[in-house]
Amino acid sequence: MPIVFHQSSQTFHLFNQEISYIIKILPSHDLGQLYFGQRVHDKDNFDYLLELAHRPMSVCYFDGDLTYSREHIKQEYPVAFTGDFKQPAIDILQQNGSRILEFEYHHYEIIQGKEKLKDLPATYTSNTHDATTLKIHLHDQLLQLDLVLSYTLFEKLPVIARSCTITNRNHNSIQLNRLMSLSLDLPDSQYSLLELTGAWARERHITERPLCQGLQAIASLRGHSSHHFNPFLALKRENTDENQGEVLGVSFVYSGNYIMSVDVDTYHTARIQAGIHPETFSYTLQCGESFQSPEALIVYSQQGLNGMSQSFHHLFCQHLIRGPYQHQPRPILINNWEGTYFDFNEEKLLNMAEKARELGIELFVLDDGWFGKRNDDTSSLGDWYVNKEKLPHGLSSLSQKVHQLGLKFGLWFESEMISKNSRLYHDHPEWVLKTPHRHISHGRNQYVLDFSNPEVVQYIENMMSDIIAESQLDYIKWDMNRSISEAYSHYQKEQGRLYHEYILGVYRLYEHLIQKYPHILFESCASGGGRFDPGMLYYASQTWTSDDSDAVERLKIQYGTSVVYPLATMGTHVSAVPNHQLKRNTSLQFRSDVAYFGTFGYELDILKLNKKEQQIIKEQIQFMKQYRQLLQSGKFYRLKSPFQSNETAWMVVDDQQTTAIVGYYRVLQEVNMGYRRIPLYGLDPDRLYTILDQEYYGDELMQIGLIVSDESCGENHSDLGDFQSAIYVIKEKK
Ligand code: DGJ
Repeated sequence: MPIVFHQSSQTFHLFNQEISYIIKILPSHDLGQLYFGQRVHDKDNFDYLLELAHRPMSVCYFDGDLTYSREHIKQEYPVAFTGDFKQPAIDILQQNGSRILEFEYHHYEIIQGKEKLKDLPATYTSNTHDATTLKIHLHDQLLQLDLVLSYTLFEKLPVIARSCTITNRNHNSIQLNRLMSLSLDLPDSQYSLLELTGAWARERHITERPLCQGLQAIASLRGHSSHHFNPFLALKRENTDENQGEVLGVSFVYSGNYIMSVDVDTYHTARIQAGIHPETFSYTLQCGESFQSPEALIVYSQQGLNGMSQSFHHLFCQHLIRGPYQHQPRPILINNWEGTYFDFNEEKLLNMAEKARELGIELFVLDDGWFGKRNDDTSSLGDWYVNKEKLPHGLSSLSQKVHQLGLKFGLWFESEMISKNSRLYHDHPEWVLKTPHRHISHGRNQYVLDFSNPEVVQYIENMMSDIIAESQLDYIKWDMNRSISEAYSHYQKEQGRLYHEYILGVYRLYEHLIQKYPHILFESCASGGGRFDPGMLYYASQTWTSDDSDAVERLKIQYGTSVVYPLATMGTHVSAVPNHQLKRNTSLQFRSDVAYFGTFGYELDILKLNKKEQQIIKEQIQFMKQYRQLLQSGKFYRLKSPFQSNETAWMVVDDQQTTAIVGYYRVLQEVNMGYRRIPLYGLDPDRLYTILDQEYYGDELMQIGLIVSDESCGENHSDLGDFQSAIYVIKEKK
């Protein structure tokens, strides 16, 4: 039984082979956090972890007792202003102006498996034996509030999924202003904080800073999880690297405004929190009404960052992603965006599709510009009917012809947006998010529809459904190209609900479409990677990683993204040179060697390729088809970081340890440099492997390393120069 309640000490112990999580019902009837980390033996009492020594000048709970202070006891779900002075997990404004809360333990339930979260994305179990859930019920007697804290422990993973629900049972309404999904007190703060930060076109760069006293946070107030701060953080020990050492990762399964923080006090204890950003959040709950928080995931690893990432990858692939492609290799696609932008017609597209088929591509994706009067980004969002000037025979005819070629057909939408220059804006200006009597800012010339209004979502759903049915779509790219500003809903009575209800509207539309068209592969996108988060992955099995398709920049972007997200979720395309974002020239080989480690596709005008390039692409596609199962579902190891040197290396290994692929990349050529070896991971030390015609034992490749040295200079070496790469296929010798 992985979740045990020790009656005598009033202690819950959640444990599996890898982790332990210990909670105690305190003498003050609230919950204390005793331990989270590597698994320890179960026993019936861990009370010594309360550490009740006297600390002068602390605020104390019991009369006459100077030792029992919430300032020092690690809290499981802290409330504000009752002696704990770090960030509270919950904040409720009551009718008399008070914000004091007293949630006391009431009872608990243990459930085999995991319950669904209402209207929210979350991890799931297909088999109830994969996880066990503990629900601790707390009650505030004065306010008649119920609070349920939920903890799911996955049986074979070092992961705990947390969320909570608050219900008002009183006839007085309350105003819920903060409800963190997770709050976790750690006994020390000797960590550095690792984050995935960036901006448009340079998403999810790995950054690290030492934890220091005070509040440190990442957040988004943009209405989407953002390019700038991914909803993820990790606390890592000083000696931790990719392959060894302790690290604790937190990921938030949500796509709207969020905050994730670490609050370090003067006693060097650290409180991690993750939840909806309270700045744009406020819900009045009437009698009988509940609010459910999104889910937060904590992963513990003693095997360094790779260990943590592999747990996230496994969790997301087995317990978050759904749909027909969950366990299927992703189709190799061609997307016309960088090939044509808005300038295309049926003939051009069909020529591209025909060439794509010839090269072995499986899915043709028509991007922006097929609808309304859209010839640039100033018009037509919201008018989801075909542009007859470009596609005189309609979408169904185009789709039919693409299907006849033997390709799947995919289409771009930006469902949440509206252009001023559109029929929809003319008919429904009140559907735009806009504060009355205030200026409204645009982003990429467009405005945001009020997805918190079910009528708007229904209208868009009807339009999309018509198109999907008419054009027999196999794939949808769902874009979102601006952050939300001056947000105000004409529909909502309470503006504090708006941002959360907006994202619930997005989730609802996705869910309806998935239910109606379960065969469709969704790829989410927000100007590239502005909404690459686990919330989206619950609906869309893959995400367009970045609008930056330059292979050199992609090394950092994909390396950083892999810290949390599996390769099967990362949209990776080979694009044209000079690259459209950076004007950089790299070889077709370098570009594909980077793109293999993802869903893989092409985004260029393939009609402009010469015969030699076409032949190279044919071979690349054959290679990808042969190895994509491994590349997209193998165990991924980061070997050498582009953030630390001129070289990058990574590898995937299959579960049976029979085949592995290493990608090695050198950005700039260095003159007369030394010899280089890269130690590999994840192979069987006792098995003999081959790389080309050479043989090596697994232990050689892991202890001595893979030799990646090449000539370092010289006139006779045509393969020298900047932007070099190599792919090593490692096979067990039969
Ligand atoms: C932003 C996306 O990231 C691009 O791939 C492309 O779909 C454009 N939008 C189209 O407007």
